[in-house]
Parts: sequence; C-alpha cells; structure tokens
Amino acid sequence: MHDAAGHVPVLSAEALHYLNIDPAGTYVDCTAGGGGHSELIAERLTTGRLIALDRDPEAVERVRQRLAPYPAAQAICRNYAELAGALAELGIKTVEGILVDAGLSSCQLDDARRGFSLQAEGPLDMRMDATRGVSAAAWLREQTRESLMQTLRAYGDVRPARRIAETVIARAHAGRLNTTGELRQAVCDALPFVHGEPDEVRTVFQAIRIAVNDELNALRTGLTQMIDALAPGGRLAVISFHSGEDRIVKQAFRSASRVQRELFPDGRVAQTHPPRLRVLTPRPVSPSETERRANPRAHSARLRAAERLPEEGGPQ
Ligand SMILES: C[S@@+](CC[C@H](N)C(=O)[O-])C[C@H]1O[C@@H](n2cnc3c(N)ncnc32)[C@H](O)[C@@H]1O
Repeated sequence: MHDAAGHVPVLSAEALHYLNIDPAGTYVDCTAGGGGHSELIAERLTTGRLIALDRDPEAVERVRQRLAPYPAAQAICRNYAELAGALAELGIKTVEGILVDAGLSSCQLDDARRGFSLQAEGPLDMRMDATRGVSAAAWLREQTRESLMQTLRAYGDVRPARRIAETVIARAHAGRLNTTGELRQAVCDALPFVHGEPDEVRTVFQAIRIAVNDELNALRTGLTQMIDALAPGGRLAVISFHSGEDRIVKQAFRSASRVQRELFPDGRVAQTHPPRLRVLTPRPVSPSETERRANPRAHSARLRAAERLPEEGGPQ
C-alpha cells in the first residue's frame, strides 16, 4: 500500500490489526517518519487523539503538514526515549495504543544531505536530529580501532571488523573521512579481495548510524516508558529491522509478561509483581510475500505486539 507521499508504510495492515484502534482512544506513533502509519491511525479516530512523534525535526515538519486535515492529530519533535516526559507535558496519563516503526525513513535514506545513503555522495552526518550530538565523521575521529571494532561487531555483525576498523580509523584520524563516498571507499579498500561492492558497506553504515544515534539504548529506555504509559487493554506494536532491535523488543516483552520477583540479599523473595503484558505475537510477524516483492525495504521487518494487563485490584 503506497501512501500519499509515495512511501510504503511497512506491515501497516498487521500493525493496525494488533493496535485494534478504538476511535475514541489516545494513540502515540513514536516514529512518525513520513506520516504513513500516523495517517492510517488518524483516519480511524473520531473523538480520539493521535500524538505523532519523531526525533527528526524535518520529519516532524513533514508529518505536521500531512496530518493537518486531522484535528485529532498533533506532531511533536521528541526522542521516544523521553516519552514519559512528553506525555506528562501534554497532560496525558495513559494511552490506548503505541506504535514504533524503528530505524530510518526512506526520506532520510534518500536525502544525500543527511549522510545515510550508501550510493549518493553527501556529508558523513547520519544524525536523525542534526541539531544534537555529533556527526558520524566527528564520532569516528573520537573512536579507537578497538572501540570501532566492537561497534561494527555489535551493531552490524561485521565479521572482518578488525581490517575495516584499521582502515577507517586511520583515515578518520588523518581527516580523510568526511563524506559517505569516503567511508564506502574505505570499506572497499579494507577488503580488496572482494569482487564488486562488499555487503560490509551496508552493515558498516548501519552499525555507525546505530552508534551515532544511540538507537538501541533509546529503544530499551523507550520500551519501559511505553509499557508504563499503556492503559489496561492498551496495545503496543513494534516493527524492527535487524536482530539487535528485535532481541531488545523480545526481551522487554518477555520480562514484562512474567511475574517479577524482588529478592532480599540472601535470595529470599521480598515481593512479587504480577505480569504487566500479554504477548500477542508468540513469533514475530513478517511481511507477506506480496509486500516483500512490492517493497524491498520491508524485507527484514518484524512486528511484535503486546497488550497491557489490568493492575491487580485496579480497573479492568
Ligand atoms: C522507518 S521510519 C518510520 C516511517 C513511518 N512509520 C511512516 O509510515 O512513514 C522511522 C522514523 O523513526 C524516527 N526515529 C528513530 N528513532 C527514534 C527515536 N528514538 N525517537 C523518535 N523518533 C525516532 C526516525 O527519525 C524516522 O523518521
């Protein structure tokens, strides 16, 4: 399904199915991006409310324009790791549903100025919010060979991490790594025995982007706040694009769907807390064959969903 902006919201039918939209409910799209999923939610609301959030100010501006016909919708610029604060400022205590569609939007990927593109030449920036933090070029200058090796392994599953880190760090420290093309060339030069463009170009870009934006910590912190923000019966749907993200979602869901035990130092149980979530997707949901064919970017998408359980003794 193409949206009005020509982008394709990934797993949108499945996300809407699990969110099970209540037209009078309050919803948060934590990763509004191009506004595709947000619009699908907004058009299902009557007296409800949609908070469309993104950490990228350019995305928020686009989404604000796109959602202008929907008075129920409001776009705000925030990292979802700060969700609790954002909801408190808006006077919202609990919500009926939350969506996360992690990673990069096609607008970010396709815009050479942003420095995410593997093909188009641009400054090596890679920040989702270019008003904060440091660019990828500056981040690389601060790294050692060992720290970059760890990043490449942890966030990109890069096997020849040592060879690549050696070349990349030598060039970054010499001030010769300032564009996307220079990073791509450094990876290719580190693997001269590979014919054609090595797949490591993609995984090195991914790993550096995840580190520069501290994406996995944001997801860990954000998920805790999202679970807290759900009303009883409220739904959380998370679409992730690589194994590191999916593992964090799986663990957060698994831990919140079990009885929590607080222990005394000697190991005796001090207190138990009932499960807070019911997992709705025992296995992650993948895009259909049709969606994969129509949208290559959907290929690695995985959706997990869960429902908030009522507090013991609280409202049902
Ligand atoms: C895959 S896109 C979302 C596309 C969107 N669902 C649509 O239908 O157009 C991911 C978006 O999430 C944003 N994002 C990533 N991490 C974020 C975070 N921690 N907080 C807020 N936004 C984030 C990115 O800036 C990007 O715009």
